[in-house]
Amino acid sequence: MTSDWAAWHAHYDDPDSSLSQRLAEVRRQIAVALDRAAPGPISLLSLCAGDGRDVLPVLAAHRRGPDVHGRLVELDPALSAAARAAAPPSVEVVRGDAGTTAAAAGAAPADLLLLCGIFGNIPDDDIARTVAAVPALLAPGGTVIWTRGTSAPDITPRLRGWFADAGVVETAFVTGTRTGRPVRVGGWSVGAGVLRGPAAPFVPDRRLFAFVS
Ligand SMILES: C[S@@+](CC[C@H](N)C(=O)[O-])C[C@H]1O[C@@H](n2cnc3c(N)ncnc32)[C@H](O)[C@@H]1O
Repeated sequence: MTSDWAAWHAHYDDPDSSLSQRLAEVRRQIAVALDRAAPGPISLLSLCAGDGRDVLPVLAAHRRGPDVHGRLVELDPALSAAARAAAPPSVEVVRGDAGTTAAAAGAAPADLLLLCGIFGNIPDDDIARTVAAVPALLAPGGTVIWTRGTSAPDITPRLRGWFADAGVVETAFVTGTRTGRPVRVGGWSVGAGVLRGPAAPFVPDRRLFAFVS
């Protein structure tokens, strides 16, 4: 697995790449989530946010963008700096480890939770633990958007089941096939769902995941 995340992001420059297709779907799902958000402030939490190119352009263009406040958490210094430069004042960008609940303290439960580009880089047990923590990270009625590659062994059927077990009712599951690079992304999927089950208490300083390098 890569750890050169700046190089990984460069694949977004090819509009025909799998990554760009996935990005378009993530942005679409963010816009859908903002469309259905209740009137008033909308809180945002994005873990492993990269340079924020999924959510920040949507906020800039969407009528509900001015209502959004929250936090992007990203470990890479250059990517977090890029996100900070692109973010509106209402969205803070924290350079830090998003793999513990400490990263979400004060920003959870959020109305919009982004878990994009994470599940392909962490062990299955970490995925299950992170999904099980969604009821503590996401406000009731809020939307979680996630991604996962579909290359064999495709764990998305189990993953979707874990979200269902957590009380998240799926609103979208969109897949695409591999076209161009990066090969590792392969077939992609974007999932979205709304928390309809009970909220869970927020437990600070709990390890959810760690990237496998
Ligand atoms: C596959 S990229 C996804 C970026 C973005 N979410 C997207 O979908 O475009 C994974 C990102 O996670 C970041 N990352 C890796 N481990 C992290 C951690 N423990 N805490 C925060 N960010 C982390 C990397 O620096 C990288 O930017």
